Amino acid sequence: MRMAVFLSGSAQATMDYAKEFARTLKGGDVVLLEGEMGAGKTVFVKGIALGLGIEDEVLSPTYAYMNEYGGGKLYHYDCYRLTDGAQAEALGLTEYFYGDGICVIEWPQNISDVLPAGCIKVKIEKLGKVNRVIRVE
Ligand SMILES: Nc1ncnc2c1ncn2[C@@H]1O[C@H](COP(=O)(O)OP(=O)(O)OP(=O)(O)O)[C@@H](O)[C@H]1O
Ligand SMILES: [Mg+2]
Repeated sequence: MRMAVFLSGSAQATMDYAKEFARTLKGGDVVLLEGEMGAGKTVFVKGIALGLGIEDEVLSPTYAYMNEYGGGKLYHYDCYRLTDGAQAEALGLTEYFYGDGICVIEWPQNISDVLPAGCIKVKIEKLGKVNRVIRVE
């Protein structure tokens, strides 16, 4: 499903799409989720978790920076409050990028200096209250 464009008209549609997208992922993949506040990045991660068969409830990790789900299958980052990669490194957050789990990162631009090569990019563009363009690169 690499290089795809999807028009979503609801949070449910975004989740369903993310669930399908998750089937294309393998251990060690790092997914960068870009999009403004409220675009639907966390909704997309909920769909990824479902697609990976993870039953834990996915919550926004804003205050924790990173939440782990499915016993190391999925690492969900929210880097909104980080200002550079050195902070992520100091917190021990970057080691999972090189592990066997799948890392999905919201606000990756804040730690761009420590992101590994070969990340998969997903951009969510907010067109209005419910419409979103989702691009997988
Ligand atoms: N098509 C859509 N896809 C995704 N979310 C949608 C859509 N339409 C409406 N929404 C709503 O938009 C909101 C998206 O919230 P979400 O927390 O996923 O955003 P976010 O991109 O993670 O924001 P933040 O950067 O603050 O973490 C939810 O309330 C969701 O119900
Ligand atoms: Mg979020």
